[in-house]
Amino acid sequence: MEHLQTQGISLPRLGLGTFRMQGDVCRAAVESALDLGYRHIDTAEMYGNEDAIGAAIAASRIARKDLHVTTKVWHENLAADAIRKAFDASLNKLQLDHVNLYLVHWPSRSMKLPAVFETLIKLKEEGRTRAIGVANFNIALLKTVVEEIKAPIACNQIEYHVMLDQTPVLKYLAAKSIPLVAYCPLAQGRAAADEALIAIGRKHNASAAQVALKWLLDQDGVAAIPKASRAESQRANLDALKLTLDDEDRKAIAARPNNKRFVNPGFAPAWD
Ligand SMILES: NC(=O)c1ccc[n+]([C@@H]2O[C@H](COP(=O)([O-])OP(=O)(O)OC[C@H]3O[C@@H](n4cnc5c(N)ncnc54)[C@H](OP(=O)(O)O)[C@@H]3O)[C@@H](O)[C@H]2O)c1
Repeated sequence: MEHLQTQGISLPRLGLGTFRMQGDVCRAAVESALDLGYRHIDTAEMYGNEDAIGAAIAASRIARKDLHVTTKVWHENLAADAIRKAFDASLNKLQLDHVNLYLVHWPSRSMKLPAVFETLIKLKEEGRTRAIGVANFNIALLKTVVEEIKAPIACNQIEYHVMLDQTPVLKYLAAKSIPLVAYCPLAQGRAAADEALIAIGRKHNASAAQVALKWLLDQDGVAAIPKASRAESQRANLDALKLTLDDEDRKAIAARPNNKRFVNPGFAPAWD
């Protein structure tokens, strides 16, 4: 598995998303993914599944140094003491003494970004998270974080898939050598039923979902975290890495509509 090097961490380019999986279902999915070779697990305090993920990791024989775990602080907990409390609760549930990456899950209109990053940087300096980052930050917010606060963010995790163009953010991140972690990389499963992707997949003996994932992972500085509860899908998503797309495939994908955003909560500042 290829990794992205960013702010001192080594991020496996394909990870397992875990939103909407909880309890035994989540634990079983994470155990299956770890068995298949996944070494990057994405969670968040808001998902209510850090305890199940902690149990799966504890039951695995994988050395901590070989595993990447991302978790996130929810937008209601962005005051300094609230971040600390949320972080401690996350570590506890995950049964870990550190996470690899701690993200601001969503921006909020009331957050004080310099204070937020002061706390996150302290957590990094204390070694309790190896790196810090953001999710759902638009270019204006990224500029504040990167150019004014100069926080060492290791990624921006945003919605990105064949149905949603993210060229402007990608260009900004690339110029600053910051990876983009693509969430909803399968457009919440919709990519699997897309006729154009099915046709491309047929050519390569691959599925439409595999085409959608490989299209993302062929791009410099992009990682992806598809959620898959079933072992067959987890395996198929790993196998997507072996697929070779050609220029004709990329042209066919570029010709499709790509303005469909599926995640956009009202409480966050608007996207450009
Ligand atoms: N930072 C944020 O604000 C944010 C927001 C949204 C999501 N995320 C993260 O990103 C992860 C992924 O996003 P998502 O879960 O919303 O959507 P997604 O990964 O785009 O799609 C998940 C759906 O695709 C299906 N699927 C997976 N692999 C497949 C395959 N090979 N063939 C056919 N179908 C397949 C899954 O089915 P089964 O589950 O039935 O296997 C599930 O229904 C989340 O789990 C979460 O970790 C972050």
